[in-house]
Amino acid sequence: MQNYTKEVKQFVEDHATGITLVVAAGVGLVALRRWLAGGVCRSKVRLDGKTVLITGANTGIGKETAVDLATRGARVILACRDMTRANTAADEIRQRSGNGNVVIKMLDLASLQSVRNLAKDILENEERLDILINNAGVMMCPKWRTEDGFEMQFGVNHLGHFLLTNCLLDLLKKSAPSRIVNVSSLAHEKGEIYFDDINLDKDYCPQKSYRQSKLANVLFSQELAARLEGTGVTVYSLHPGVIRTELGRHFWPTIPLWKRIIFQPLLLLIKSPWEGAQTTIYCAVEESLEKTSGLYYSDCAPKEAAPQGHDAATAKKLWDVSASMVGLA
Ligand SMILES: NC(=O)c1ccc[n+]([C@@H]2O[C@H](COP(=O)([O-])OP(=O)(O)OC[C@H]3O[C@@H](n4cnc5c(N)ncnc54)[C@H](OP(=O)(O)O)[C@@H]3O)[C@@H](O)[C@H]2O)c1
Repeated sequence: MQNYTKEVKQFVEDHATGITLVVAAGVGLVALRRWLAGGVCRSKVRLDGKTVLITGANTGIGKETAVDLATRGARVILACRDMTRANTAADEIRQRSGNGNVVIKMLDLASLQSVRNLAKDILENEERLDILINNAGVMMCPKWRTEDGFEMQFGVNHLGHFLLTNCLLDLLKKSAPSRIVNVSSLAHEKGEIYFDDINLDKDYCPQKSYRQSKLANVLFSQELAARLEGTGVTVYSLHPGVIRTELGRHFWPTIPLWKRIIFQPLLLLIKSPWEGAQTTIYCAVEESLEKTSGLYYSDCAPKEAAPQGHDAATAKKLWDVSASMVGLA
């Protein structure tokens, strides 16, 4: 034993610099990972008797948000386009939250008819709607069109949610205080609304389209908050962070294999879906936000949106254009 201790001591003395570097790198990596994980929603508020609707809740951030809100006692409606995947997710959410009051409903945001059908179902069958979370999203897909002929990312990420929210406003008002949470992205910062070519027919670029749609989420939140002032319905938009989800499904396969291999270890540093859901949950439940509306959040704290994200004239114009595109009076 004495010999063994001596050998260890000797080893440490001989390799002091190397050991210090390894320990420092380890501590540094753990600290970096913690920092990248971002804020956590600390609210312990219960949601018994409340109803929440989350779009795109069968995977990623939406599913983790659903688990949290179901754990708080809410009735959670998962609005999804693939009923098989939705069923599997609902089973998992019921099991992880211990709450059986989790239901699935069909919603394809790439179809205005599907959006209207879901809204009709909710208005006819739900007594209340306390939290609407517009979470579903598609990123950097090829040049696809929705059933109604809109460019896919603008159509799903913005127009579908714009129509759904407007159709559900009366129920949200009736259930006030209630909240609308729009999941945007940091990508809005480089976004622009191309009013003269909103479907990007002249110059389609997957990235440009995603950025436009995420800027639209921020502008929609701002204009909606202004229109809902005094109703008890508050609105929030947010960047969830960079998260390991299926969002890169269209973009990832376009990257050369060697780059994907190099990126692999870096993926361990980005947020898990649970970490990525924290800001959405924060905006949905945090008590101190009850009186604020129309702001943008990141890492469970308010953040200044890009200048084009709080331009009232653009927000108003986008509202009018969107209303006309989806056929709202
Ligand atoms: N992950 C990130 O790093 C990140 C960063 C910034 C912002 N965000 C935003 O976070 C939100 C959630 O993304 P995520 O990362 O959780 O991605 P995800 O894992 O790909 O989940 C997206 C969800 O949206 C649904 N969806 C897509 N198209 C739809 C449609 N036409 N109708 C109804 N649902 C549809 C998907 O359904 P299927 O499973 O049927 O396809 C899925 O449930 C998105 O709005 C995204 O822009 C994510």
